This record gives sequence, C-alpha cells and structure tokens, in this order.
Amino acid sequence: MRGSTVTTVDGGDCVLVSSTPVPVVADNRPRPGDPLDPDAAISVRGLVKRYGDRTAVDGLDLDIRRGEIFALLGPNGAGKTTTVEVLEGYRTRDGGEVRVLGVDPARGGRRWKADLGIVLQSGAGDSQLSVREVLQARASYYAEPRDPDEVLELVGLTEKAGARGRTLSGGQRRRLDVALGIVGRPRLLFLDEPTTGFDPEARRQFWALIRSLRDLGTTMLLTTHYLDEAEALADRVGVLARGQLAEVAVPTALGGRGTAPAVVSWTEDGVRRTAETTTPTAYVRELAARFPGEVPGLTVARPTLEDVYLKMIGQDLEGASASERGAERAASRSEETSP
Ligand SMILES: Nc1ncnc2c1ncn2[C@@H]1O[C@H](COP(=O)(O)OP(=O)(O)OP(=O)(O)O)[C@@H](O)[C@H]1O
Ligand SMILES: [Mg+2]
Repeated sequence: MRGSTVTTVDGGDCVLVSSTPVPVVADNRPRPGDPLDPDAAISVRGLVKRYGDRTAVDGLDLDIRRGEIFALLGPNGAGKTTTVEVLEGYRTRDGGEVRVLGVDPARGGRRWKADLGIVLQSGAGDSQLSVREVLQARASYYAEPRDPDEVLELVGLTEKAGARGRTLSGGQRRRLDVALGIVGRPRLLFLDEPTTGFDPEARRQFWALIRSLRDLGTTMLLTTHYLDEAEALADRVGVLARGQLAEVAVPTALGGRGTAPAVVSWTEDGVRRTAETTTPTAYVRELAARFPGEVPGLTVARPTLEDVYLKMIGQDLEGASASERGAERAASRSEETSP
C-alpha cells in the first residue's frame, strides 16, 4: 500500500506512505513463577545478578519471540548490559532461570554460540590487522559465514577494507563491531548500543540493515539510548529501571501513549493556537467547520516515545538529574507550542 495516491474531494492529493499493522497487545510479559516458554528465542524468569552487595538485575521476567526485534531501554546503570551479558553466556547469574535458543547460557556449547551474533557495548578494540583480515578471521570460526566483503559493503566499510583497525574513526570502528556480529549468520543477534558514534546517515543505513536481517528471520535484542531508533526498529520495547522491568509494550503504546491526550495546533488570526484534548477527531471536525478550506498549519500530536520514557524514568528516579532533564524538556516544548 506504500505510496498509493488518492484524490480527495477538494482536489488535494493524499499519499498513503505507510500502513504497518499495529499489534493490540500492550504488555504480554510473563508473570513471576510462570514456566519458561520453550518456543521463545529468549525466556527469562526471576533473573538476578549481583556485583558484591549491588543488585544490578533484580528479578527479570521476559519472553522474546523468535523473529522479534526487542529494544531494552533504560538509564545508565539500569542493568541492560548486565542482562544482555548473562543471556550471551558472558556472565554468570545469581538467581533465576534463562533459556536462549532453548539452551541455558551457563551451559551453552560451541554449537549454541555459533548461532549467536554479539555486538558488545565496549567494542572490539584496536587491531594491527586490516579490517578485511579481522572479518575474515572471525568468519573462519563459523560453518556457514557470510562473505566478508559483502558484510563490509552492508555496513559501509568497503573503502576501509585495507585499513588497520586502529586507524578507524569511532563510528567506523562501531560499524566493524556490527560487521563482526553478523558475519557468522546468527539466528539471534545481541546489539548493545550498536549505533553510538554513528553519523545520522550511517544510523539510517544501519536501520535498513537491521530490517533486512529481520526479513531473514533473525531475532534481535537491542539496547539503545536513541528513542527514535527504538521506535523505528523495535516490535516491542522494555524499560529497565534499577534492574527491574518497569513496562513492556509496543512502542506506540508505551506509557499509555496511544490513548494519551492529543495536542492540536493551528494558526488563526495570525496567532499559533494549541489545545489539549482526549477527543482529537471531534475537535478537528469542529475546527474544520470554522474554516472554509484547509485549517492553516494544522497538526495533531500525541506524546513521543521520548516524552513517555522520560516521564516513566523521571517518576522512578528521585535523583535531581532526571527531573532537571524533564524540566528542560518541558520548557523547550512550551516554547514550541505556546501561541
Ligand atoms: N563488572 C562490574 N562490576 C561491578 N559493578 C558493575 C559491573 N558492571 C556493571 N556494574 C554495575 O551494575 C549496574 C548495571 O550496570 P550495566 O552496565 O548493566 O548498566 P547499563 O544499563 O548497561 O548502563 P549504560 O546505559 O550506562 O550502558 C551499574 O550500577 C554498574 O555500576
Ligand atoms: Mg550498558
């Protein structure tokens, strides 16, 4: 249905640019004590991880479906990397049950590891080898790797194939990390803040790559601080705060976004006017009746994913930094919307 043009009654063109099915299930998290889901790509019950007397993950219950892209959100120190590293088999856990592709990561063998692709938050580090050599070496671990040169093309590093790893820029190094994560043709890909340091164009290219991997059936667990990235890519998002999942939802429904009051804005008598309403359709109908043609500058907006995320995190953390961020944001929004 992408791009189909309809001529409306008053002669204007209407182009339907997208029609993505929206799942109605907002929060289908397993409850504590539910059995592990044998069909899930990742099934977690009551996961606990402590570092000394600090509890980094505090009773996590989560199922991620095969083929799903799941984004784990949360402030610095929330426990995202710790969770991902337990699932990858990099860290031991202190409590709970975990299955990743049907296997307990604490006992995962070589075969199980070959089905995983991992892009660590910390990255691969400097290398004396060329970019192509690093990728070829990694590819040789796998039975059916992707062609390293095709992977370089996919991540936009073809021109740097002969360069030494240590001469790459920060964003180029991160692209190499992503290349290393996907060269083994993983069934399940972990991406811990994969696009940190990417320029905007590289991020869009990365999103296209992730979508093409999804089309091939790859399951992905992604962490990110970019809310637009989560919205663009994820089937569901989970917000982690102090080691606990505050909410799991489709991005359009998180924090009651789908039903939150809408902000209607328009221009009238040379003044920008804004109204908040729970019935935007009725409001716009009344507004339309007041104008002979188009309502000038009409916009209808619901809270963004970032708005609801900051609200959730702000409520959770009493710390000054979160409320300062919220206040700054509220101030900049009111500047944007006040008449
Ligand atoms: N190796 C470690 N030893 C001791 N404490 C650790 C270790 N790794 C993480 N922690 C602590 O555990 C908590 C969770 O850290 P984690 O790295 O999982 O957070 P995160 O959500 O990934 O944060 P960020 O967004 O900054 O990457 C933090 O309080 C952190 O200081
Ligand atoms: Mg982290």
